[in-house]
Amino acid sequence: MTSTTSSIAPATGRLGVLTPGLGAVASTFVAGVLSVRNGLAAPIGSLTQMAHIRLGSRDEGRNPLISDFVPLAALDDLAFGAWDPISANALEAAATAGVLETNDVAPISGELEGVVAMDAVFDHRWVKRLDGRRVKTQQGKLEQAQALIDDIERFRNEQGCDRLVMVWCGSTEAYQEPGEVHSSLAAFERGLERDDPTIAPSQIYAYAALSSGVPYANGAPNLSCDIPAMVELAREREVPIAGKDFKTGQTLLKTMISPGLKARMLGLRGWYSTNILGNRDGEVLDDPESFKTKEVSKLGVLDTILQPDVYPQLFGDIDHVVRINYYPPRGDNKEGWDNIDIFGWLGYPMQIKVNFLCRDSILAAPIVLDLALFLDLAARVGQSGVQEWLSFYFKSPEPAGDLPPEHDLFIQQTKLKNTLRVWMGELPVTHSEAD
Ligand SMILES: NC(=O)c1ccc[n+]([C@@H]2O[C@H](COP(=O)([O-])OP(=O)(O)OC[C@H]3O[C@@H](n4cnc5c(N)ncnc54)[C@H](O)[C@@H]3O)[C@@H](O)[C@H]2O)c1
Repeated sequence: MTSTTSSIAPATGRLGVLTPGLGAVASTFVAGVLSVRNGLAAPIGSLTQMAHIRLGSRDEGRNPLISDFVPLAALDDLAFGAWDPISANALEAAATAGVLETNDVAPISGELEGVVAMDAVFDHRWVKRLDGRRVKTQQGKLEQAQALIDDIERFRNEQGCDRLVMVWCGSTEAYQEPGEVHSSLAAFERGLERDDPTIAPSQIYAYAALSSGVPYANGAPNLSCDIPAMVELAREREVPIAGKDFKTGQTLLKTMISPGLKARMLGLRGWYSTNILGNRDGEVLDDPESFKTKEVSKLGVLDTILQPDVYPQLFGDIDHVVRINYYPPRGDNKEGWDNIDIFGWLGYPMQIKVNFLCRDSILAAPIVLDLALFLDLAARVGQSGVQEWLSFYFKSPEPAGDLPPEHDLFIQQTKLKNTLRVWMGELPVTHSEAD
């Protein structure tokens, strides 16, 4: 945390928000911002639009909106761009996704239709359940990266944008461990030249964004900006990055409930999570290679919050199972069931059952907005590299350096707000006695 209020560049001019992927999440995000902009709806779920932040000690009574406290881009100043191998534009994407009712889409349909998807850098091998049709003709990976860089500059000029950010809202790619090609920027660039098969499309987008000085966040669980090559590039180009995998639905609840169990020293014996989902994301995750990526992202949460090494009696023997079942009739309206086996005083067992009838994209859309606005803020503050304070939004938060990630939603929230306080020259809130 380096800056204070005097050195933060103002949020003047237009901010372009680019999303690789124009599916359920991205179209719901764009439609939501347009609806709010037109006075048709409220931006529920968004911290940048709705949350207040306490400043100073409790008796000072200072509690402004975050948007009045830090200089964020205004919703009226946002422009939208996207790439997709299937969707033609945001209107078509919203209709396919079926998240929003027709009468909510109708008043903004013209604006949605105007968000036309650019041809994607897409490779069927990384998302086996999709057949891309609107795909770039360039075959070489270096040429594909250059084509994306050209798209970014064209968008910047055509839309008159002063600044850009990119948020990956594309499908979850097949599971991959980082390899030699990801180990440094030089190795990655050699890999682009040689068409290394272990460079995934999302990594090419991340490379194009960072090379263009555009902050990048990854909303999916696949490797993208969380590889040494991208961290190095982000540092070199002085661009902020954040990831990964939007924290919505079951994992959001998991990171709310498990800190509470731990706070009260209640033990956990098992956590079985299953859910049914019928959107395109569910279809992609029906492929074992894409599901593996998601599973790894979801399973990491409990261990870091509960610290079984510190509390072996309480959390040393947990069966944690996560299932996602593709079930088309549900569309985007996911239903999740959690069975949580806990134990208390003298080891007596108890159970918690959670049945969450959620709407995936309704929970994810405000995250896209907040990430776009906060990443843009971080860039104007002069931050670069991994933005840990944005862990709040991710299932698998990318830590800065070799530190362990922080999964506890409430610690993440404190970190986010304290970061904003410090940047604006205020004291962090520690909740100590006098505070
Ligand atoms: N909705 C949530 O709650 C949530 C939570 C966490 C993560 N995510 C992740 O966010 C991503 C988007 O979710 P969604 O529900 O919108 O899925 P979706 O399937 O509706 O949309 C994804 C879009 O990405 C496109 N795409 C695939 N490969 C691409 C490429 N190489 N370049 C550009 N576009 C590409 C697809 O054609 C599709 O239109 C998924 O990876 C999902 O796992 C979603």
